[in-house]
Amino acid sequence: MPHVYPRHMQSRYVNGLTIRSLRDGDTDTVSSLFARMGQSSRERRFCGAKPRLSDLELSHLARVDRDHHVLVGFVDGDSEPVGIARLVRDGSSAEIAFAVADDLQSRGVGSTLASVLADDARAAGITQLVATVCGDNPRVVALLKRLGDSLSESWQGREREFLVGLGP
Ligand SMILES: CC(C)(COP(=O)(O)OP(=O)(O)OC[C@H]1O[C@@H](n2cnc3c(N)ncnc32)[C@H](O)[C@@H]1OP(=O)(O)O)[C@@H](O)C(=O)NCCC(=O)NCCS
Repeated sequence: MPHVYPRHMQSRYVNGLTIRSLRDGDTDTVSSLFARMGQSSRERRFCGAKPRLSDLELSHLARVDRDHHVLVGFVDGDSEPVGIARLVRDGSSAEIAFAVADDLQSRGVGSTLASVLADDARAAGITQLVATVCGDNPRVVALLKRLGDSLSESWQGREREFLVGLGP
């Protein structure tokens, strides 16, 4: 009996991902993505319980300037953001963090945003990225491993700090 194949080939990756920079002060976009994250994602992103974002936290997360760079991902047919990657510069180093909507995790959105963010960092002369990882988070660790030229890891209390070298 012949195999019955699905009509369309399925990809693990999201088609039609568009990445743009966040506009300074665009708290609506930050809120929209936060609303698409469940409790466990929020805990991983913010290293602790985070049922809601305060106005102060929102304005901090939506800040864009010389040292704050934020990328937002959108997919075709979905008006709400599916992921955010942010970078806060401190000299030649930058703190990075990522968040992807729960229903689109594990489909390459975080890796794609991270890769574009690392390219932007390199272009701006940043040579090291710093990521704080709380608890067990194999997705972000896998993502960080492929991000730069080198990776080192150290424990800071109950959190792990990863240093990603971006090379010359
Ligand atoms: C961490 C996060 C940003 C990763 O983004 P994502 O779009 O889900 O991840 P990707 O699909 O790009 O996959 C990243 C890697 O994790 C791996 N991965 C995916 N699902 C996995 C799973 N369930 N277990 C282990 N590894 C997994 C993928 O294989 C990929 O590695 P590879 O490319 O070497 O195969 C996203 O899951 C997220 O927002 N999590 C909650 C918030 C968070 O943890 N933020 C990070 C704080 S710095």
